[in-house]
Amino acid sequence: MAQKYSFLNGEIVPHEKAFVHIEDRGYQFSDGVYEVILIVNKKLIDLEGHFDRLLRSLKKLSINHDIKKAFLVENIHQLIEKNAIINGSVYLQITRGVYKRSQIYPSDLSPSVVMKMSPVEINRTLGEGLSIMSHEDIRWQYCDIKSISLLASSLLKKKAYDQGFEDVVYIKNSFITEASFANIFIVDEDNTLITTPADESILEGITRNRIIELAAANGIKIEYRKFSLEEVLSAKEVFLTSSTLLVRPVTSVDDKLIGKGEIGQLTEKLASLYYDFIGV
Ligand code: PDD
Repeated sequence: MAQKYSFLNGEIVPHEKAFVHIEDRGYQFSDGVYEVILIVNKKLIDLEGHFDRLLRSLKKLSINHDIKKAFLVENIHQLIEKNAIINGSVYLQITRGVYKRSQIYPSDLSPSVVMKMSPVEINRTLGEGLSIMSHEDIRWQYCDIKSISLLASSLLKKKAYDQGFEDVVYIKNSFITEASFANIFIVDEDNTLITTPADESILEGITRNRIIELAAANGIKIEYRKFSLEEVLSAKEVFLTSSTLLVRPVTSVDDKLIGKGEIGQLTEKLASLYYDFIGV
């Protein structure tokens, strides 16, 4: 039901007819960017943050475009109605466009813009804590760009699943960067929330930023600094954030329990504040 209609280059089309050309540079070079925006009660959560990041990603790849936010938002709302979405997410992808397969490309290609919907089950339950594994971060240097080049993350997430884990957290130069499709927070013995600074080694998550804001507004101490796997393993609490995971506790890493392997109080508190914020 959720994927009855999608958006393809300016038009809403039946999902099964939403094709892009084989010479699209997204297909041949993963030359494009994307966003995933949470929808709760038909409302787009943190639209401004997602749109600003989309523009930053496009700029960093020098993808010229004439994207009008109002037009995209109007079409997202049409997709919400046509696909009868109440809670879900919209995937928005912009690639540089279609051109013969060549490393050198004209600067004025017309970008391809596609959007599709997925349902997401949303309630105030945190569910089971995740069991994750650690792995060397084998991605490229510009992880601050929300690039569609997701092969490393997909391969490693599959590897994690095949080994009985639910996700993978990356290590680069002895420090944790983020999870395959989410940001990571740890909580120390003093109940300080610690998260990786937003540099080129991570994607600056919109959910991460919202959690930081909610934490600050509620008197929770926050530190922005890099931390090691050892610190994760000895942390009081660990959790991940993303637009589709929301706040997800992590209760074991590399088969070692975090604390007693139970969901932590600060994680619960922040999740509750986030549920209030999104209106669920
Ligand atoms: N991914 N880091 C990475 C590598 C991500 O892919 C994501 C989100 C995040 C969290 O960002 P945000 O809070 O803005 O969703 C961090 C999306 C959900 C995805 O690829 O499906």
